[in-house]
Amino acid sequence: MKDAGPMMDFDSAVRARRSVRGFRPDPVPQPVLDEVFALAQWAPSNCNVQPWLPHLVSGASLAALGQKMVAASLAGQVPDPDFSADRRFDGVYRERQYDAARQLYGAMGVERNDRPGRDAAYRRNLEFFGAPHAVFLFMPRDFDIREAVDLGIYSQTLMLAMTTRGIGSCAQGALSLYPGIIRDHLGLDESHRLLLGISFGYEDPTVPANAARVGRAPLSEALVDHR
Ligand SMILES: Cc1cc2nc3c(=O)[nH]c(=O)nc-3n(C[C@H](O)[C@H](O)[C@H](O)COP(=O)(O)O)c2cc1C
Repeated sequence: MKDAGPMMDFDSAVRARRSVRGFRPDPVPQPVLDEVFALAQWAPSNCNVQPWLPHLVSGASLAALGQKMVAASLAGQVPDPDFSADRRFDGVYRERQYDAARQLYGAMGVERNDRPGRDAAYRRNLEFFGAPHAVFLFMPRDFDIREAVDLGIYSQTLMLAMTTRGIGSCAQGALSLYPGIIRDHLGLDESHRLLLGISFGYEDPTVPANAARVGRAPLSEALVDHR
């Protein structure tokens, strides 16, 4: 990511953040990790309960975890996410989903009817796109959609803190598909429910997927101003 630095202003950071899906192997220095996670702690939450339970996994342990999830996927293990992930989008939402997929697979040179190519691209999710770090965002058991909002706000705060420091990231629902494997790997029990993961590290700009760019609906289609 270019032009990043701690002095990056807020608007620039919001516009510069995008999903990075290919990373260099070098780790983020510990003081920088400490800074971004300390900043994310300042995310607001309902009644300030701070329901996020972030678990950071790096290096060899992360690679081993990725291998377990890829093996499960290749063996046909049916995903069993803690929160349903089988939503189908319709109408404008489906169009946006298609457009994002078109941009991503187009950048990767994967054709729409190339099933093996798409499956392989999907499995890159489970390998964290080669990132040296991933953070898994759990919630305490029994928490639900209202606390999930807080985890979303936490996630964006964290990713923007990374952006200003030149760190690329990708929020991934795909990392929540095999929560049992992740809990086992981390020694957690079912008191932790997994909502999403975020892979992060320094972008490898030579990875084709990183050329993908998606836009947004114009404000006139989004904001309803009742003045
Ligand atoms: C909660 C959440 C889950 C996501 N899950 C995935 C995922 O599993 N795999 C992936 O490649 N991208 C995933 N994304 C990234 C979105 O595709 C991306 O944010 C969206 O297309 C907008 O692109 P941008 O992040 O580059 O602005 C996810 C994003 C969010 C916020």
